Amino acid sequence: MTAAHLTVDPRFAIGHVRRRLFGGFVEHLGRHVYDGIYEPGHPAADEQGFRTDVLELVRELGVSMIRYPGGNFVSGFRWEDSVGPREQRPRRLDLAWHSTETNEVGLHEFADWLDKAGCELMLAVNLGTRGVLEALDLLEYSNVPGGTALSQRRIDNGRAEPFDVRVWCLGNEMDGSWQLGHRSADDYGTLAAQTARGMRQMDPSIELVVCGSSGAAMPTFGEWEREVLTHTYDDVDMVSCHAYYQEHDGDAASFLASAVDMDRFIEAVVATADHVGAARGSSKKIDISFDEWNVWYIDRVDAVKPTAIDDWPIAPRLLEDVYSVLDAVVFGSLLISLVKHADRVASASLAQLVNVIAPIMTEPGGPAWRQTTFFPFALTSRLARGEAVRLRVEAPTIDTARYGTVSAVDAVATVDDAAEAVAVFLVHRGLERPVDLEIDVSAFGEVGVVETHLLHDDDPGASNTLDDPERVRPRTVQTRLGNGILSLTLPPVAWAAVSLRRVG
Ligand code: AHR
Repeated sequence: MTAAHLTVDPRFAIGHVRRRLFGGFVEHLGRHVYDGIYEPGHPAADEQGFRTDVLELVRELGVSMIRYPGGNFVSGFRWEDSVGPREQRPRRLDLAWHSTETNEVGLHEFADWLDKAGCELMLAVNLGTRGVLEALDLLEYSNVPGGTALSQRRIDNGRAEPFDVRVWCLGNEMDGSWQLGHRSADDYGTLAAQTARGMRQMDPSIELVVCGSSGAAMPTFGEWEREVLTHTYDDVDMVSCHAYYQEHDGDAASFLASAVDMDRFIEAVVATADHVGAARGSSKKIDISFDEWNVWYIDRVDAVKPTAIDDWPIAPRLLEDVYSVLDAVVFGSLLISLVKHADRVASASLAQLVNVIAPIMTEPGGPAWRQTTFFPFALTSRLARGEAVRLRVEAPTIDTARYGTVSAVDAVATVDDAAEAVAVFLVHRGLERPVDLEIDVSAFGEVGVVETHLLHDDDPGASNTLDDPERVRPRTVQTRLGNGILSLTLPPVAWAAVSLRRVG
């Protein structure tokens, strides 16, 4: 048994936890849209063909804003294909995922689905194979109330009110060689700045996200951000970060420390953005949109290889990772990292939502169920309210091959003054022994424990599957409170959340 001491004090406030930190991402990829959120003919489908069982799970997950429609998909996408009478919509080849896109679900249907799910729309424009004009056309179609050709087309297509999309992504992963229309930082920065200025001329109230690196391991990382932001600093609000983690070669210790890498990634991008701002003498701050993050076994993917010229399946099974308890513990620690940077991470999108590297899985004609990663997301989204607060953590350390010596325990708290509520989120990365935690919460006066949740299993490889969808559920964890000290024991490889409320 080892021990750790933590202190939560509201004076160490980081920043307000914005709801957009708990965003998601729906890409036209594999069985995400078709046979995922949309399956006409399913017993649970509503009148529009949307699965109500999936909608219920999406609401329970507590997702705020959803990025759409890609991803790599967006770089070959013609938005006009996805609106208007369905029977006239063209079928297109999706080169990114070697599939056929039927356009049966498009902008109007997806916006209806978001209304049902209670989520906000975040739209990505295609800056891979298209440019300024097409982005302006989509903005006019979406946000202009009426009186112009494209706003009238939207009205004729059945939507009188504008979609009023607040947040727009200027392309996707334009630093990646796999991206259709991949560009140099100079070329992309020029195009993104022109597009941003044009879009702002039409609607000055929108928020714009420029593409940062598609991963901190990219050879252009850092320099890409500097160059792109030098072009776009005055015209955008956020720069994107993307990060996916997986266990390599059975190295669970390094995998469990993935959030250390996420911390460094965020801090490096903030430093680069602030450097560009300083060099320009600007008082403006660029925030981060961490608009793709997750555990993803990219190595296990039989990547989308060009097959025969006539083999373009509709909604094939792609990227359907099954997540273990170990994956979910790492996933929970990534959420801790995001909350720890609430001052600069204005928005984040879990990639993705249904079937495709997803917390929610479905079977055609069959059930929908929660993967292990569902639980830390739903609990953090529900309990992390108010201000994020940095903890003082004194804990044993662990040596990892990838990230050096790291703390065995990581944590963050949130304090909601209005509700007189405190929530503490914890991860124990140790692989062998439990850790005894003593958390000093005396700064809050008299408090009582309201809820506890522990994600752990004696088998860290346990997962929820079609055959056993309830195998993994969070349990409660025993706590003791006395003299302002909250005590609990975390087993190895565990994620936990504890919520407290002021009493008296
Ligand atoms: O989320 C899966 C893919 O990962 C996205 O399409 C792309 O942006 C990223 O490389």
